Amino acid sequence: MIRIEDIHISFENKAVLRGVDLEVRDGEVMVILGASGCGKSVLLKHIIGLLSPDSGKVFVNGTEITSLPKHELYRVRRSFGMLFQSAALFDSMTVYENVSLGLTEHTSASETEKREIVASKLELVGLSGTEDMYPAELSGGMRKRVGLARAICMDPAIVLYDEPTTGLDPVIADTINELILRLQERLKITSIAVTHDMRSAFKIADRMAMLSEGKIRFVGTPDEISASQDPLVVEFLSHR
Ligand SMILES: Nc1ncnc2c1ncn2[C@@H]1O[C@H](COP(=O)(O)OP(=O)(O)O)[C@@H](O)[C@H]1O
Ligand SMILES: [Mg+2]
Repeated sequence: MIRIEDIHISFENKAVLRGVDLEVRDGEVMVILGASGCGKSVLLKHIIGLLSPDSGKVFVNGTEITSLPKHELYRVRRSFGMLFQSAALFDSMTVYENVSLGLTEHTSASETEKREIVASKLELVGLSGTEDMYPAELSGGMRKRVGLARAICMDPAIVLYDEPTTGLDPVIADTINELILRLQERLKITSIAVTHDMRSAFKIADRMAMLSEGKIRFVGTPDEISASQDPLVVEFLSHR
């Protein structure tokens, strides 16, 4: 479904990604692990075409996206939902307005249709009836769930999560973990989650990839990564 080939990118002469290769399979939850500042968010932005690499390729369902003209990139981007680290809700807009943003901008859905779609997405994330609330009235975990409802509003085939559980207490984090798994099961969504929360990583991952020094150091199932003898992997896992 997604193939990343030899991605390189530098910012102001600082090489952040130095030859990243990664394949994400249809329907799996891939967790990308790595220390803070190692380039996880930068890698996610390449997958959705928000950043363009200095060299290398990104394939989404067989389409190479790094060289696509803007309007075609926008079309590909519509197969993605993205949950940003901060949830990135608009404070002056209600939950309904936040969640329906993509529908308003990219579809000709009527108000009635939008109401129905938003209600079904809010139900899926356990927030039925919150349409008229404002982000400031919601807890951190609820805001993440609204962000998630927005990410899935256009029925994306792929959802990208940037630190979905970071900063949440473990009980709330688990509700987000369960939601990610539920979306994968019910909607057959392919998920890529970037995190340094090991506890969550082990709960949701079908496979994990560890990003270190600009490259993927390890890819494998949770069992395989647990059994790894690579000192860097062992060190990283000790923070579990
Ligand atoms: N748009 C940008 N311009 C310049 N530097 C950036 C930009 N985006 C990220 N960086 C740098 O790239 C490195 C990796 O950032 P990031 O991917 O956000 O790390 P993380 O693994 O914590 O998500 C950091 O040193 C960051 O300062
Ligand atoms: Mg980040």
